[in-house]
Amino acid sequence: MGFKYFFIIILIFLSLVFFSCTPRTAETERIILGFSQIGAESAWRNHHTLSVQDAAAAAGIQLLFFNAEQRQENQIRAIRSFIAYQVDVIAFVPIVSDGWEHVLNEAREAGIPVLICDREITIQNESFFAGFIGTDSLQQGRSAAEFLLRRFAQDNRLIQIVELRGTEGSSVAINRALGFREIIDTHHIMTGIQKFEIIYSESGDFLRSKGYELMDSILNRFNFNDIDVLYSHNDSMTLGAIDAMKERGIRPGADIVIVTIDAEQAAIDALIRGEINCVVECNPKQGAEIIRLAALLARGETIPRITFMTEEVFTEFDDLSSIQPRGY
Ligand code: AHR
Repeated sequence: MGFKYFFIIILIFLSLVFFSCTPRTAETERIILGFSQIGAESAWRNHHTLSVQDAAAAAGIQLLFFNAEQRQENQIRAIRSFIAYQVDVIAFVPIVSDGWEHVLNEAREAGIPVLICDREITIQNESFFAGFIGTDSLQQGRSAAEFLLRRFAQDNRLIQIVELRGTEGSSVAINRALGFREIIDTHHIMTGIQKFEIIYSESGDFLRSKGYELMDSILNRFNFNDIDVLYSHNDSMTLGAIDAMKERGIRPGADIVIVTIDAEQAAIDALIRGEINCVVECNPKQGAEIIRLAALLARGETIPRITFMTEEVFTEFDDLSSIQPRGY
């Protein structure tokens, strides 16, 4: 190696040492955000990830991204590594709502603010996190049931419902089940007539493959004429369930009314074809808001306790020609 190249390498090395030793000030420092995503279980989830990555890049925020591959222990490990790395803010999508006390206490002791994203947590000491930004899953459950009240308004028989729930213990699965039951139970109390009955409910973990398997076994167990409605907590499971119905010559959307949550493009297309009757949006475009709130926290500011995304409901009663491409 010639002296010239040797000199250049020494120069690069010295400048790296210099910049890494420069004290972090408001002007020189990039905010470092540690973000733990739960996995890649659905097209919805992949879009959520992209939304966060794009927003961080646009804002010049350094993102330490960690995919937990559907395991809470991986998320806890990631949060601990963010604490060790002394990131400015920790954000994570809690796969389940319980079991975060210890690790969030560690973050608090390290003085690192925590932003809960997409799904909620249940925790005794609410001061362990700075705020929540995400989806209103209780309202999604209510909207799903409100559609059924309208859809079966003229029907006087008992409407039998099969439910595919999301990941066990996740706030979204808990709330989508709760909000749904709240509306049908209220209808029962107000009218004195039990019009809706959930005849079967099981978790399909938000996965298309499980949606298919569960629907297949449900159709082995029940005569499809006894199933009026499929209420599915996400589009991935719904699309799998539709495959299982079609294999048996059952017409989704006609023989069985289908209500689903997320509003992926594939579900909207099925709604337009008449194979789904109602799509409740769960908005994955949370990145810009997550990054905005994280930047506020990094500057030591307080943020609202709860920020819900705006979300719509698309049904067979609507003019579907104006729905914009979903992007996921
Ligand atoms: O937390 C949001 C849910 O998680 C979405 O409904 C689902 O598709 C995803 O996997």
